[in-house]
Amino acid sequence: MNHATTTVTYTTQPCAKKLEGNFRVPGDKSISHRAIMLGALAEGITEIRGFLQGEDSLNTLRCFRAMGVEITDPVDGYVRVAGVGLYGLRSPKKPLYVGNSGTSMRLMAGILAGQSFDSVLEGDKSLARRPMRRVIDPLNQMGAIIESAEGGRSPLTIRGGNALNAIDYLLPMASAQVKSCVLLAGLYAKGRTCVTEPAPTRDHTERMLSGFGYEVERKGSTACVQGGGRLAARKIDVPADISSAAFFMVAASIAPAAEITLEHVGMNPTRIGVIEILKAMGADMTVFNSREVGGEPVADIRVKSARLRGIEIPEALVPLAIDEFPALFVAAACAEGRTVLTGAEELRVKESDRIAVMADGLQKLGIEATPTVDGMIIEGQGAQALPFGMAEIWSQGDHRIAMAFAVAGLRASGTITIHNCEFVETSFPGFAELFRRCGGGLQDVAGPVVGGAT
Ligand code: S3P
Repeated sequence: MNHATTTVTYTTQPCAKKLEGNFRVPGDKSISHRAIMLGALAEGITEIRGFLQGEDSLNTLRCFRAMGVEITDPVDGYVRVAGVGLYGLRSPKKPLYVGNSGTSMRLMAGILAGQSFDSVLEGDKSLARRPMRRVIDPLNQMGAIIESAEGGRSPLTIRGGNALNAIDYLLPMASAQVKSCVLLAGLYAKGRTCVTEPAPTRDHTERMLSGFGYEVERKGSTACVQGGGRLAARKIDVPADISSAAFFMVAASIAPAAEITLEHVGMNPTRIGVIEILKAMGADMTVFNSREVGGEPVADIRVKSARLRGIEIPEALVPLAIDEFPALFVAAACAEGRTVLTGAEELRVKESDRIAVMADGLQKLGIEATPTVDGMIIEGQGAQALPFGMAEIWSQGDHRIAMAFAVAGLRASGTITIHNCEFVETSFPGFAELFRRCGGGLQDVAGPVVGGAT
């Protein structure tokens, strides 16, 4: 996809019929990235099923190809990676382009710090605004040499050939990307690298390293790896992404009549904050068919329309639902009473400033939404049939903002026009079509880029 020449605009329609269907949303983005990375660094052939064929994880795939790893073109989520071993990557001929993907850049920085060659990691305009000091600092402490643009932003030039030393790192923020970066660099370090997190964050890296036969010692909030081991190729079944399923959980909860079943959803305990928050708001959700695939729990989830109520969101749930707040803000606007979110300052450094951009869009739609330094206060309009008015929204190059306002369209009194929805391709290819198929009115029209914000 070329962001420079194509733009997609969504226009919504209020939900006229019942929202219904049984379906599986695309594969988990976090797990798809890691499957390519660890598959590439393993010895032998890794077969991946359920791979997310979205721009973010495809960018990770392309980067490893550029470093000499043979990876098949994904077909219906099936990919084969011919692992080259921890020391088999080759120097890329060009800068490694990761597009919009913070996960690719931060995790790969850890891997690249351990290589014998120099490399450059670069991304799109949105990624160039996001903080990279959070990975540069611990990697520097390990002995890596990294040059960045002003303010610790990308592009990052990572100097190869520097021996890494193990560190004991206390994460300054609850970030799975930073934790994973340090652990991956730890594979190349002399000694035992440990990372301690201030609150639990997604643990896919630790689980997948163990699955590839690499020992990860986990005690309380600390995870450690000993450098110098090996990864053994394996089969990976990527569950459906709970972060993508979340848009349908909220859609079914707020639609006037709905019953949908989301199949094979990843239920890793470090990811299910959205379910706990929606349940606390009164959502009608049933989790069933719980099972485990390749070290990750999955389940089916039935969601029906419900009368939601506003809540104070427990701060402990924030890192466990960090990507779901754009959707949850829409749920809060449809709930009865006030919802208060605190402790979520990380939302300001995502693909956009999700506190500012969501508050702005909700206000345009007639909702009393007050941004705070670390969260938002939303006065829910639950008693009204159609809490949202009509407005034109810019998604600011953020896939989840675009999808959140598409969901809001189900309860709007008029059309919501959402610009720059092309970024939905990064995590949820086929979103608009799936939304329509289950009864949500949504048009997506592609066109040339016009001026204005992205
Ligand atoms: C991710 C971790 C989270 C999340 C991101 C994916 C990952 O970021 O927001 O979408 O795959 O590790 P942080 O760990 O920086 O909070």
